[in-house]
Amino acid sequence: IVILALWAIAGYLLGSIPFGVILTKAMGLGNLREIGSGNIGATNVLRTGNKGAAAATLLLDGAKGAVAVLLARALAAEDAAQIAALAAFLGHCFPVWLQFKGGKGVATFLGLMLSLAWPVGLLACGIWLATAAISRISSLSALVAAAWSPLVCLMLGQGQIFLLTLILAGLILWRHRANLARLKAGTEPRIGGSKA
Ligand code: G3P
Repeated sequence: IVILALWAIAGYLLGSIPFGVILTKAMGLGNLREIGSGNIGATNVLRTGNKGAAAATLLLDGAKGAVAVLLARALAAEDAAQIAALAAFLGHCFPVWLQFKGGKGVATFLGLMLSLAWPVGLLACGIWLATAAISRISSLSALVAAAWSPLVCLMLGQGQIFLLTLILAGLILWRHRANLARLKAGTEPRIGGSKA
């Protein structure tokens, strides 16, 4: 249990690195909290107009989830990898460095799913992309991908991560409360749009 707690801490610290905030500040793109939705994720970084910064945020936020899982799996075991995955996700959503006001966990979720069970991660990315191609709305794509993920686990015979995926999907839904309200009101901006 001490080992698992250590992996929880390591995963949390990795996940809590707010790459979007760091990159936009370092590149002189302004304060991300005052742009668009105020969220720290790649979708909002894109609202600065800098596609490179947005792509880097997406990759790095995804990579931190993947690295947490791969490290825990390599150095400990599969249960540690699941704990590290959950902790990295929570680190992104509630980072100590930003008074626990973090992101919505989508990129980190996709990254950690890809390393936990790559077929599930791949299909989740595919669902995100397909929904985004049709709707051009990032939050809607995230909600559809998250909602399908637990089912995808079962469909692909990855029941060992079903519970974790269900919890993460639930957290993603909850973190998108404001987006859900905007989607209902028909005011959610399209990808690359400047308003939120
Ligand atoms: O990944 C976050 C995305 O689903 C929504 O971001 O900035 O439009 O609230 P945002």
